[in-house]
Amino acid sequence: MPSNRYIVLFLKNYIERIERVPDYNLDDELIEFYVSLAATTEVSFAPSGMCYKTYVLDKEQYTRIVLREEQMLISSGTTGFQTWEAGLRLADFFTEHPDIIRGKNVVDLGAGCGLAGFACAAMGASRVVSTDFSDAVLKLLESNRKINHGISDKIQVSELDWVDTEACAKLSKEVDVIIGGDIAYDPSIVPTLVGALKAMVLSSQQVVYVTTTIRNPETFELFLELIDDTGVLGRSVMDLTETKMTALCHPNPSADIRLVLITRN
Ligand SMILES: C[S@@+](CC[C@H](N)C(=O)[O-])C[C@H]1O[C@@H](n2cnc3c(N)ncnc32)[C@H](O)[C@@H]1O
Repeated sequence: MPSNRYIVLFLKNYIERIERVPDYNLDDELIEFYVSLAATTEVSFAPSGMCYKTYVLDKEQYTRIVLREEQMLISSGTTGFQTWEAGLRLADFFTEHPDIIRGKNVVDLGAGCGLAGFACAAMGASRVVSTDFSDAVLKLLESNRKINHGISDKIQVSELDWVDTEACAKLSKEVDVIIGGDIAYDPSIVPTLVGALKAMVLSSQQVVYVTTTIRNPETFELFLELIDDTGVLGRSVMDLTETKMTALCHPNPSADIRLVLITRN
């Protein structure tokens, strides 16, 4: 069940929108329910724990993913409790280009709450392995898998630490496409990430799709440099900043987003 705070905010938004529709009368019972719940629920826009978010991938079919997430960006030392802008853009990219993942086995690295991998499952991937290294994130990921009934059977949640290049290489033999949203975010983890990507691509030659928000240009440059230094990986960069998000709503227009495609040279 969503929290009372979420229900109040949802109904407030819904009622405001409906009131703008000419000649449309709101249901009295709904108004009464809203008023009584709002009176007993503390609603502020300050971050307050977990919430449920619905991501609509396809407005016509109403294909959607529901995720339980933390409202604060960095919670208990992990970045994996919220969907990051680059993860949102990666999900949107596959929603726009489902041909890349349709019928394919996909692994999502540093999956966090799960959006990008779950979007691949919803858009036609055969199987998705959503991975992370944090126990707390893996628990949240598993509970998010379970609440997305239509696609939960296609998704497997697994522990995978990029440090363990052997495990990375082994898993990559089972998949066709490797994805990761906002996983090259910190210079201290970038060498480990590139080591994992190298092990994965060398073992099975898949294409890797990584999205990054350019917060610090040096971190992004380091990521590209280390890919080049491997001597065996090639890469191309697409700017997703100007991409109009057609499926998922509420993009942050000021986020500077890049998609890096990595392949074997
Ligand atoms: C910024 S979050 C992005 C989460 C999600 N992909 C998104 O786009 O919303 C980075 C994720 O990478 C994971 N991560 C960091 N270091 C890792 C490692 N060595 N092995 C596996 N996952 C790692 C974190 O636990 C976190 O979930």
